Amino acid sequence: MAAENFKPFPGFATDAIHAGQEPEQWKSMAVCPPISMSSTFKQTAPAEHAGFEYSRSGNPTRQCLEKCLAAIEGGKHGICTSSGLAATLTVTHLLSAGDHIISIDDVYGGTNRYFSQCASKFGLEISFIDCTVVENVQNALKDNTKLVWMETPTNPTMKIVDIAAISKVVKAKNPEIIVVVDNTFMSSYFQRPLSLGADISMHSLTKYMNGHSDVVMGALILNCDKLNDKLRFLQNALGPVPSPFDCFLVNRGLKTLHVRMKEHMANGFAVAKFLSESSRVEKVIHPGLPSHPQYEIGKKQMRGYSGMVTFFIKGGMKESRAFLKAVKVFTLAESLGGFESLCELPSVQTHASVPADQREKLGITDNLIRLSVGIEDVDDLIQDIDQALKAAIP
Ligand SMILES: Cc1ncc(COP(=O)(O)O)c(C=O)c1O
Repeated sequence: MAAENFKPFPGFATDAIHAGQEPEQWKSMAVCPPISMSSTFKQTAPAEHAGFEYSRSGNPTRQCLEKCLAAIEGGKHGICTSSGLAATLTVTHLLSAGDHIISIDDVYGGTNRYFSQCASKFGLEISFIDCTVVENVQNALKDNTKLVWMETPTNPTMKIVDIAAISKVVKAKNPEIIVVVDNTFMSSYFQRPLSLGADISMHSLTKYMNGHSDVVMGALILNCDKLNDKLRFLQNALGPVPSPFDCFLVNRGLKTLHVRMKEHMANGFAVAKFLSESSRVEKVIHPGLPSHPQYEIGKKQMRGYSGMVTFFIKGGMKESRAFLKAVKVFTLAESLGGFESLCELPSVQTHASVPADQREKLGITDNLIRLSVGIEDVDDLIQDIDQALKAAIP
């Protein structure tokens, strides 16, 4: 297995460092955008202001981040929300009772819970579909379908969905159907859903984009002005906005995204290779392994791989628990995408809210362990996994 020779999107690092950050926008000419904590802004006459009225509807620090997010994903508009799930909620509020949503079946557990236990209460109909097969989506489309929600690669079984093929089929049925891709696992550095035909790229910025495990935030990135107006209205009307301090942190995190992602990719690959050669491991899922069922689609639509690695330890709950208790450099914790390595057991942690029969169907078994490989020294990570596997399976 060799790291693919992917090329980054042109100008990515320059945009991440400069887009939306122009010192000229501040009287002080600050090079690093100030944290604008004011909740309200002086008006020169009633309804006459310098672009900001009240921090829920707009904030200078948030605006810097939103502009930077749009630029790094080749989009026109960026909209920040107080969490990734708040971004999902905001998009769903574009719909009305009686509308139908198609969601990928192997969606993040919290998104599944939101669609099936919250959105469904407001008269929205949800179908969970295996979107790796384009015909499945085609067959599930109805006259009242208004939203198609994909995640690729999925969390935690790393299924890859052909964004261009699905977008084409959906738009052929009805161009008004909104196609969303949750781009959290790839970050803007490795994948641009908008260039593949999606309407919205959604992120849990909590993960790779911020990258320092110290902020919870979400974002929507898009091109369409009309859709942007509707979502901006909802951002203000619903109110799920992040704090200016958190916007400052994520904006800072983006400056090193390209540097971090290259390290995540290299370490993730090395860990996947080590695991795939271990006699204590049943199977490894990594989109860069030629054994991955959608390896070719991944190569076509992604510019690299993150640090996410899923593996099945030989045995069951007992062995998984023993492994997760034995790790020393990896930390047993939910979340992913930070500089530190994390590990978890989706069946009882991140995906515990997915009904047991659905989990079984998706293959989220008690021996499936999810790793978020960080950017520590790779030898230390491999040594840690090695000793934990030996502790779990002597
Ligand atoms: C793929 C994916 N999408 C969305 C979310 C939700 O984001 P947040 O936790 O920022 O609300 C998560 C969280 O783990 C996730 O992994």
